[in-house]
Amino acid sequence: MCGIVGYIGNREAYPILIEGLSALEYRGYDSAGIALVDCGMVNVHKDKGKVDNLRTLTSDCPKPGFTGIAHTRWATHGAPSTINSHPHTDCQNRIAMVHNGIIENYSYLKDKLIKEGVEFVSETDSEVLAQLIGKYYSGDLVRAVRRALSEVEGTFGIAVVACDNPGVLVGARRGSPLVVGVGEEELLLASDASAIVRHTKKVIYLKDNNLIELKNGEYNTTTLDNKKIKPEIHRLEWDADALAKGGFEHFMLKEIFEQPETIKNAMRGRILADDGIARLDGLNLVFQELREINRIIFVACGTSWHAALVGEYMIEELTGIPVEVEYASEFRYRNPIIDSHTLVFVISQSGETADTLAALREAAHKGATVLGICNSVGSTIARETQGGVYLHAGPEIGVASTKAFTSQLTILSLLTLLLGRMRRISHSEGMTIARALQNIPKQVAKILKQNDHIRQIADIYANHNNFLYLGRSYNFPVALEGALKLKEISYVHAEGYPAAEMKHGPIALIDKDMPSVVLALKDSVYDKVISNIQEINARGGKVIAIASEGDKEIEKFVHHVIYIPKTLAMLSPLLSVIPLQLLAYHIAAFRGCEIDQPRNLAKSVTVE
Ligand code: M6R
Repeated sequence: MCGIVGYIGNREAYPILIEGLSALEYRGYDSAGIALVDCGMVNVHKDKGKVDNLRTLTSDCPKPGFTGIAHTRWATHGAPSTINSHPHTDCQNRIAMVHNGIIENYSYLKDKLIKEGVEFVSETDSEVLAQLIGKYYSGDLVRAVRRALSEVEGTFGIAVVACDNPGVLVGARRGSPLVVGVGEEELLLASDASAIVRHTKKVIYLKDNNLIELKNGEYNTTTLDNKKIKPEIHRLEWDADALAKGGFEHFMLKEIFEQPETIKNAMRGRILADDGIARLDGLNLVFQELREINRIIFVACGTSWHAALVGEYMIEELTGIPVEVEYASEFRYRNPIIDSHTLVFVISQSGETADTLAALREAAHKGATVLGICNSVGSTIARETQGGVYLHAGPEIGVASTKAFTSQLTILSLLTLLLGRMRRISHSEGMTIARALQNIPKQVAKILKQNDHIRQIADIYANHNNFLYLGRSYNFPVALEGALKLKEISYVHAEGYPAAEMKHGPIALIDKDMPSVVLALKDSVYDKVISNIQEINARGGKVIAIASEGDKEIEKFVHHVIYIPKTLAMLSPLLSVIPLQLLAYHIAAFRGCEIDQPRNLAKSVTVE
């Protein structure tokens, strides 16, 4: 979604800001803009379209200034257009502001300001805040921002500059992340660290309802009601290389191929294979507390929700603890029942998803122990949970989540092992699970070698407009995930179903033009899945099967097979999802889609 970059220091701001915007492109956006402070003016350049478009637009004009702010917008209020793009200014052009989030009472504030004679130029909620800051600005930018923010309801991450105050940049947040980079005689402000990491590894994660003033290479942090705060400085673990494509055509493909490594990273130091146990110290729960858990609720969105479903199957089967999986957006509004033995896990790659964050707060408010499974270190969800586990997958840039999913599955397997060994799982079963898990990275690498074979299948089906994905048991959530991958990056309609449910409706759609991707592994439901495949064949449908190595028999019933190595049923999603990621990738590539930044989508959904 929207991205923010700000710079103040002893270098020209423009190149740093434009490069920062490029680093934020992966978040998804529809317009871009920049404001530079120079010679008593704020000079704004903005346009709809890509950052490259802004580069071209500004290529011939001078762009002086050592202080500036920049933004990529993902439209909420008002269509993508030059006028609705950020930065927004007040009507006297004295201040410029970029905003992430939503000002909920903008309509009321706008009417009030119009009555006072303020003229608006855009349809956005954000301009209301810019005009409000302008109204209160009389030389003290911090005071004006503080006063304006006291009147707004909703969420914001903002960066503000003033024409006559070139040495000051103000940031503030509530519900929308902001991180400050502390460099040598320069400071940066951004909505995520990818816009900062090339310049410094020292960062401050601004907390909700905090305001920061960046001035003369120093920073001053307060709460919105003006209480002094001493922020903690963190060190970014990843470096700028993680943000490059490393020879791959797209970040998504690079991230698919990183999985043998990222899965290893997720389990590093967390498995004691000879004892058949897992350790997840970050949960901050002692043995007795883990023993007393009698219910788990997973809360997540999108791909993270699919991972949670696999987690439900694993934990219920191997620990006997009842598990519920909730969409974060539903959970928060339906008054869920929570008691002191209920453990709530929020799962989020970005750690910034608005619905998941709100669900976390709702569960915490109800007295639950809330833990997180996150990838982004220092993200809001990671900081607001009482404990949790990091994926250590490195930055995921492709909008379609791939490596985060398999890392989430790895963590959920470890959690199952940890809780299971305190309950039903014997020492020898524990050892079997631990060893099978350690074997997964090699098996994933083996599947990746079939990239060309999968690409050939994708070529055959790239012009089809409807797909069905079917799976049972552990591989039903994988069917959902495979369908999601295809639809989000190739804009092809795809539906995931439990294989047996096909007969209760979707079978009506099957014909020669609607291929089915069927997860047909040699497990306890294999025969049932084969029957489902026969039902598809009987109706002239084409089948692409994901099957277990050695299963030659299946070739009789299906049109194409992609084989994957054998593992335990509970771990099979870690393998079966890989061909589905590649299939979606290649179909999208054949269709000429913008794979890393699909239309309408944002990497991190920071509005409800
Ligand atoms: O960052 P999160 O894991 O909280 O994000 C949740 C979803 O928005 C995300 O998984 C989304 O569905 C992806 N585009 C899936 O590829």
